[in-house]
Amino acid sequence: MRILILGAAAGGGFPQWNANNENCRRARDGDSSVPAQTQSSIAVSMDGATWCLCNASPDLRQQIEANRQLQPRQDSPVRASPIGAVVLTNADIDHIAGLLNLRENQAFSLHATARVLDTLGANSVFNVLNPAFVGRLEIKLDTPFSPLPGITITAFAVPGKVALYLEDVSRTDFGTMSGDTVGLEILDTASGQKFFYIPGCAALTPQLGARLHAAPLVIFDGTLYTDDEMIVAGEGVKTGQRMGHMSMSGSQGSIKAFEGLGVQRRMFIHLNNTNPVLNRHSPERAAVLASGWEVAMDGLEISL
Ligand code: MLT
Ligand code: MN
Repeated sequence: MRILILGAAAGGGFPQWNANNENCRRARDGDSSVPAQTQSSIAVSMDGATWCLCNASPDLRQQIEANRQLQPRQDSPVRASPIGAVVLTNADIDHIAGLLNLRENQAFSLHATARVLDTLGANSVFNVLNPAFVGRLEIKLDTPFSPLPGITITAFAVPGKVALYLEDVSRTDFGTMSGDTVGLEILDTASGQKFFYIPGCAALTPQLGARLHAAPLVIFDGTLYTDDEMIVAGEGVKTGQRMGHMSMSGSQGSIKAFEGLGVQRRMFIHLNNTNPVLNRHSPERAAVLASGWEVAMDGLEISL
């Protein structure tokens, strides 16, 4: 199984259009210690010829142009794409806006929970995905499905929050319901090899910990290093918890929470532009690596 990191940054990307923190300034200056990253998405393939996208980021066009694997092959018909399926983990802008790049009469299957499909259905701009070519298939939680031959995916609910633009601020849970945020178990049907893709997660419950126990690879929410990082940076008023993300560090953080789970490879993705781990020479990056975690980066390909 081949896993391609298309984008490692959180919503807004890195650098983000209106952010002027040190991370972003250095990235804009082309500082090789702080390389720019596009918005979070991965692609998975068994044969290298047909790929399943997990989320469709607003940077998808750039990601396709940066990764030959996702471009029409030289010997393809004049209209063709190796992208055969798209699976969504929530309705966040950074995970659905890229669907608009996949317009025109190109066949692929689109998989999402009823909650996310309802959001797409309520926004007629997504009708640019011609229904005669793009089937919208409902993901049922904890029920395996096969978006492409040889790949079996099981989606499961994880603690999280409804997409920002759908929040009901009159409610303490912002109107969040089951199916708003899912993690994916992605299985190579033939070999039984599997990994988990969980780009957004607010807490590691005992149930989730049991599911991930001894997994060969987990690619996990790395939005923030510390919960109040955006507030300290003066860039916002929200904590990571308020946004539905658990942070990397601290007693409630993901590094601590994964200790003892026996996960063989742990990799952070969906890094916010304030996260000091984006800087390859920061002490926070060193601490993450020393704890046995890896950090995703655009263009990285992993074989399982
Ligand atoms: C998130 O992951 O919290 C969202 O992508 C934030 C956003 O929509 O900007
Ligand atoms: Mn996001």
